[in-house]
Amino acid sequence: MNETIQNNLNYKKYIIDSRLKYFKPHTTKIENSFAKEISYSLTQDSKFISPKFFYDKKGSDLFEQICSLDEYYPTRTEISILKTIQTQLPLLLGGYFRLVELGSGSAVKTRVILDVFDKIYDQIEYFPIDISEILTESSELLLKNYGHLSITGIIDTYEGGLEFIESFDNKKNLILFLGSSFGNFSPDEGKKFLEKINAIMKHEDLFLIGLDLVKNKSVLENAYDDSKGITAQFNLNVLSRINDELDADFDLANFKHHAIYNEKEQRVEMYLKSLVNQSVIISKSNLSLLFQKDELIHTEYSYKYRLDQIEDMMRKTGFDIKKTWLDENNLFVLILVSKI
Ligand code: AVJ
Repeated sequence: MNETIQNNLNYKKYIIDSRLKYFKPHTTKIENSFAKEISYSLTQDSKFISPKFFYDKKGSDLFEQICSLDEYYPTRTEISILKTIQTQLPLLLGGYFRLVELGSGSAVKTRVILDVFDKIYDQIEYFPIDISEILTESSELLLKNYGHLSITGIIDTYEGGLEFIESFDNKKNLILFLGSSFGNFSPDEGKKFLEKINAIMKHEDLFLIGLDLVKNKSVLENAYDDSKGITAQFNLNVLSRINDELDADFDLANFKHHAIYNEKEQRVEMYLKSLVNQSVIISKSNLSLLFQKDELIHTEYSYKYRLDQIEDMMRKTGFDIKKTWLDENNLFVLILVSKI
């Protein structure tokens, strides 16, 4: 990324070529917040680390590996639903939409939609929003595969990216929020997030969201504690990231991945469990921490929903449900909504 334009709105713009540009609306804010958030979240009575910090380069690579594990059904199930709706999609949309994607990651699922658009339209615009720099890698790959595509990558949080989109122009958007990333929010946060999306949407816009459904406890626990130990590596990697970026001395051998499904709360809970009494120094956060043996650091919630709960939540946050698709085993759901 060489050409930087610092414009009057105070975001950074990088023009790579005629088909690829990037915006960084709030870069410095994101970088400072890692040290700050970690020093807050690891000094609470119940220690936690936000799951958004999983996705450095290594974490993003590990997540890609999780997606192709036998036990991790969400990715392949969502792709299979997308493939069955591929042909109906253009008719249902009834015209061209710019694609905006929240948490695009490697954009494998997006490809199913791009495949259709690429055949129908001679220009496709794609605005992926992701805090991870994996965005630049996947964007370059996409451009090689789709001749009609131009990409404007927004490197920011979901909220930052959405605000940017809202102020950018008045084109019709199809907003994608796939992979049940929504499951990281608590129901309260989720409701607020849906209201936020609703508020930035125009009446012509559409929103397609993928959500994971409630199912058997052991299926869920195997999906989040796989036999190859990839999810364990993914969870532990957040400690390496803190070691690298914040000058800390976590000994990964002294922590263990722990995942359980809480049936009452309808969520998979992931933790890192301290195997011994130990102290850890995080230099850049000016912290010296004590961990008791068996103490847990909470790292992720992954909420599972029932269809009626989702429909209720959508209506309450101002959406009109246009279409709902399930896979044949009712594992996962895709919902297309518009603003009421
Ligand atoms: C990216 C949040 C959808 O909750 O299933 C996968 C992350 N964590 N395995 C999920 C995750 C452990 C994933 N999301």
